[in-house]
Amino acid sequence: MNSAHDSQQRSDAPPILGRRTLMGGGLGAALGVGLLSVAAPSPARAAEAAPRGFDPHDWESVRAQFNLSDRYLHFSTFLLASHPAPVRAAINDLRDQLDADPPTLAEGFGDEDRSQQVRAVVADHIGGRREEVALTDSTTMAISLLYGGLKLSPGQEILTSTQDFYVTTMNLRLRKERDGTPVRTISLYDDPARVSVDEIVGKIVRAITPKTRVLALTWVNSNYGVKLPARQIADALAPINARRKEADKVLFCLDGVHGFGIEDVKISDLGCDFFASSIHKWMFGPRGTGFLWGRGDNLNLVRVTIPSFTRAGYYAWVDDHAPVGELGAIASPGGFHSFEHRWAVPSAFDFHNAVGASRIHQRTVSQASRLKAGLSEIRGVHVVTPQSPALSAGIVSCLIDGVDLDAAVQRLRADFGIIATTTPYKDSHLRFGPSITTFPQQVDQVVKAVAKLR
Ligand SMILES: Cc1ncc(COP(=O)(O)O)c(C=O)c1O
Repeated sequence: MNSAHDSQQRSDAPPILGRRTLMGGGLGAALGVGLLSVAAPSPARAAEAAPRGFDPHDWESVRAQFNLSDRYLHFSTFLLASHPAPVRAAINDLRDQLDADPPTLAEGFGDEDRSQQVRAVVADHIGGRREEVALTDSTTMAISLLYGGLKLSPGQEILTSTQDFYVTTMNLRLRKERDGTPVRTISLYDDPARVSVDEIVGKIVRAITPKTRVLALTWVNSNYGVKLPARQIADALAPINARRKEADKVLFCLDGVHGFGIEDVKISDLGCDFFASSIHKWMFGPRGTGFLWGRGDNLNLVRVTIPSFTRAGYYAWVDDHAPVGELGAIASPGGFHSFEHRWAVPSAFDFHNAVGASRIHQRTVSQASRLKAGLSEIRGVHVVTPQSPALSAGIVSCLIDGVDLDAAVQRLRADFGIIATTTPYKDSHLRFGPSITTFPQQVDQVVKAVAKLR
């Protein structure tokens, strides 16, 4: 039997009664040989999806799409998004449908069809192809699937940085403990506030050895707010890779979450080989959604950890062979998810596009620049984030002489109604994240409040 051909034919076929019978309605039914039912949004939901008077070019109107409490100035988008009205409406509508009849919508192949649309929307946004995108619940899940599953030959090493976040560092540690994969760690810059493209690229290039197969980095650091010059790193890797066999080329992998939804760039133009992000931070998408993108057929290099709930997976199980089919679908972890969130992802991209990627970028970085400039004027405040938008995005971090960071966060909230955080790193900082839900006047309020903390 030609299983590839067979699976392909089956994937296009309508639900197959024989298979349901074969599986006795047990796991076969659970894995979902079901019909996709897409109900039209209720009139109330549709009204919320396109609220009357919403003007995507008016920042007040954009802010009004969020149910963020008016008691606070919200400078912590980098943690978890509030859903704008169209995303809330899409989620609510899907939740109502699921509540009314979970099996009909949630059976595995029903999800496959809907998730296929979601993967297509993500792919279109990042400049990739649907088959290159696997859906996850978070950046953390995407990064874990990537570093847990990457197929490496004995002796091949992973190069990472001391500036990387827990998610990357801990995954590499787990990998090393499990498989003995060598992991080498370098510092990318000495002083984040004074970092340069040449410094970062030079340090990376000098650290690469013939054994380096994976370069595991984070696009925008969530401690200092440094944005790595991804394109220049990729360009510097190109001549190195040109001299290598395909199986030895350096794979450039990025945790991209703090650039995704801010930077007005097609992710495919960054030049990386893998890109992981959630959609629930700066993209203001449904909480619990994310993706892993592997350029071309790079997802083939990642061993699947969690079986997908797809036709390819199901028939591979029944017929006892490896799944054959669309890479991104096979690499998307199965199990039933919070589908009302996952299937509502396109609404977040619609919202983002309505407001405009370029305007969102300008709005975010102009406020970040204003904040950095204002904080830098205050005696005793040390901004560690680079001033240049070429090397930073929306995160702004600082230290304040003689002020405990946790106390600063509490006072900012209690006395000034400002929501900021400390960073979850050993060398922690006070961190702010202006976004499309904040205003330049609010940035000035933050500066005034910080000046009063000492
Ligand atoms: C650099 C970085 N990557 C990943 C995460 C985790 O993101 P997610 O919630 O999408 O897993 C964070 C913080 O939340 C982060 O700062």
